Amino acid sequence: MSEERPVVDEKGSACRESGASCCGTAAGAAPADVKALVREAYGRIGAGERQGCGCGCGSAARVSAHLGYGTADLSAVPDGANLGLGCGNPTALASLQPGETVLDLGSGGGLDCFLAAKRVGLAGKVIGVDMTPEMIERARDNAQRGGYINVEFRQGDIEALPVAGASVDVVISNCVLNLVPDKARAFGEISRVLKPGGRMMVSDMVLSRPLPAWVKELGSAYTACVAGAALRDDYLRLIREAGLGDVDVLDERDAAAMFVNANDPLVSRLLGGNALEDLRGAVLSISVRAVKG
Ligand SMILES: C[S@@+](CC[C@H](N)C(=O)[O-])C[C@H]1O[C@@H](n2cnc3c(N)ncnc32)[C@H](O)[C@@H]1O
Repeated sequence: MSEERPVVDEKGSACRESGASCCGTAAGAAPADVKALVREAYGRIGAGERQGCGCGCGSAARVSAHLGYGTADLSAVPDGANLGLGCGNPTALASLQPGETVLDLGSGGGLDCFLAAKRVGLAGKVIGVDMTPEMIERARDNAQRGGYINVEFRQGDIEALPVAGASVDVVISNCVLNLVPDKARAFGEISRVLKPGGRMMVSDMVLSRPLPAWVKELGSAYTACVAGAALRDDYLRLIREAGLGDVDVLDERDAAAMFVNANDPLVSRLLGGNALEDLRGAVLSISVRAVKG
């Protein structure tokens, strides 16, 4: 984390500022409450009221450089598209081809959609879905300013995608599925919308071991893509159970080493006296490829 990127909803203060009911614990909360917490946190980022410490912490440029986004790609997208909220680079790994239809789940400011649009060209199409109205508004504004005529943003929930069955060649997603309460349903939806032979390329946070209770109880740890993450093996099993095959983990890194600077005062405040060592090696950023049979 860096000082120019304040936390979204550090337990208590930031949430109360907005009068939202997003504070307190995420552990054991009803799915609707978890979604409200997520929508509140990302709505404020989408509206520009707060800069992220969503799934990636640090300046947007620094997070993206860390994840392997090229400077030429980043300078080609509209200002405000890159919010530094990703934890991987699924567009680079998806081998997108001209003419393909791509669906980006949790599209945020639209960064990966705009990069995908360049790769699939005007014969192809990109659809971004996000449940947070402020993100959709930001992404649509970015698309208009950037003149992207092959990109469309739809407001909707990943657990019930506003997308026709068997209509998509490639599903991408960047640091989003950890935020979705019912991951089996999310992977089921991915499987439903993919054409036979279509592929999924998602970057996400998973866990190598269960998290300590103090992390699970922190609302900000949920919106920061940690507390809602599934165990790695469960995550991969859910993908297979949704009817996707050839499941392949293309990249895997310790997220704490990637994103968290132990000397940052914000990190210390978030930890609240707990040891960062509790998290080392527990939270992984992975990029997973799978194919619809
Ligand atoms: C960490 S941000 C990632 C944004 C974008 N993928 C990026 O890399 O910049 C997570 C995004 O997922 C969206 N989101 C979270 N849960 C969702 C759900 N159940 N359905 C649709 N969008 C969701 C949030 O609104 C937010 O824009």
